[in-house]
Amino acid sequence: MKKILNIKKKIKPFNKSIFVEGDKSLSIRWVLISSLSKKKSIAYNLLKSEDVMSSINCIKTLGSKVKFVQNKCEIIGSGFHIKKKGQIYLNAGNSGTLGRVILGLLINSKKKIKLIGDKSLSRRDFSRVIKPLKKFGAKFNVKKNLPLIMKGLENPKPIKYFETRGSAQCKTSIMFAALKSKGTTEIKAKKSRNHTELLFKYLKIPIEIKKRKNFDVIKLKGVKKINSLNYRVPGDISSCAFFIVLTILSDNSQLLIKNVNVNPSRTGVIKILKRMGAIINFKNQKIYKGEKIADIFVKSSKKLRSIDCPKKWNSSAIDEFLIIFLVAAKAKGISYFKSLDELNQKESPRLIWASKILNLIGIENIMTSNSLKIYGNPNLLLKKKILIKNFLKDHRVFMMSTIAALTFGGNWKIKDADSIKTSFPKFLKILRELNR
Ligand code: S3P
Repeated sequence: MKKILNIKKKIKPFNKSIFVEGDKSLSIRWVLISSLSKKKSIAYNLLKSEDVMSSINCIKTLGSKVKFVQNKCEIIGSGFHIKKKGQIYLNAGNSGTLGRVILGLLINSKKKIKLIGDKSLSRRDFSRVIKPLKKFGAKFNVKKNLPLIMKGLENPKPIKYFETRGSAQCKTSIMFAALKSKGTTEIKAKKSRNHTELLFKYLKIPIEIKKRKNFDVIKLKGVKKINSLNYRVPGDISSCAFFIVLTILSDNSQLLIKNVNVNPSRTGVIKILKRMGAIINFKNQKIYKGEKIADIFVKSSKKLRSIDCPKKWNSSAIDEFLIIFLVAAKAKGISYFKSLDELNQKESPRLIWASKILNLIGIENIMTSNSLKIYGNPNLLLKKKILIKNFLKDHRVFMMSTIAALTFGGNWKIKDADSIKTSFPKFLKILRELNR
């Protein structure tokens, strides 16, 4: 793969139907859950990205057997107990989800676990999982960052915990640790994506969820083993979002994206874009093993308006803000996005990157530590040279820049094209198909 992407022309009008690759959150969860069952689990359409491969490498280190045959992945897990001898050395690569969740899954490891990650992951906050896992009885050699060493215990104690950030990674890490504890763990969790809850329910794990206005109360009883899990991974709405915005901002275009996971805890992007005037519809809606699936239809939108984005939508759109900001750049009026502290905790400080890119394309904006005001320009058309580099290989900064280049014009050089390998390896291939 060439590492620098050059774009000098806007995309041509298109009218096509596409599939995007499997959902990353579900793919990583399937791999980790399958590692806990000694029976064979099978998945189709598992995302084959670096983050998922790091997950597979970790469970292989722990003793699982993994086999790929074309679009099918089979896992025979190593089971509930960690049998590996000596210190266990795991590399989570770029993945916050894997790094944080696997620590919960390994709560019952009496062997020391050393966890490392790449440069981006090593700057991210692990105190959010260290804190609750210590309550279960685990010991850590650091307070916040990778590399770290964790030592679990044979009989973790169930806990009561209030997860205040709305982090699904943190909630899921606690849920995996709860699964291996004797007794009932109670998590009061600010709303966040609920894939783990749905999978645990499907697996008939004793879980009880009470939905309150701003948070859920989850009661989860520890078990001794779990069943295998066969799964067909639906498309990733976070990957779709880039093509949805590409279509909205392109002239005379329309797109159908088939078989996408539209779990309401992930569809904030659709609500936000619709409120800004975008034409988006769900077709062929169905439920698959607890998850909502649909085809997403989207059209070019000429009349985009600004938004004062309600903060209650933040968690269900958390990975999509960068691409939403491009729509705000082209919308009439001043858009305001607030309470977004978590955005600077991602693969790169994304609020800072969003503001940088908006400045480069001549869009006035005001950034604070957790908010962004964007002064939209419906006549935005670029002619100048733009260079995007040193963004910690954040895949979403790369994809945002690519969509800006294809819709706003200008002469762009975007470095580190290999960054997409972590979450959406086929991103550029699909773009080329649309532009044929
Ligand atoms: C994820 C949760 C979110 C999201 C990430 C994937 C998950 O992170 O940004 O891309 O799979 O649970 P947080 O839980 O840190 O908000």
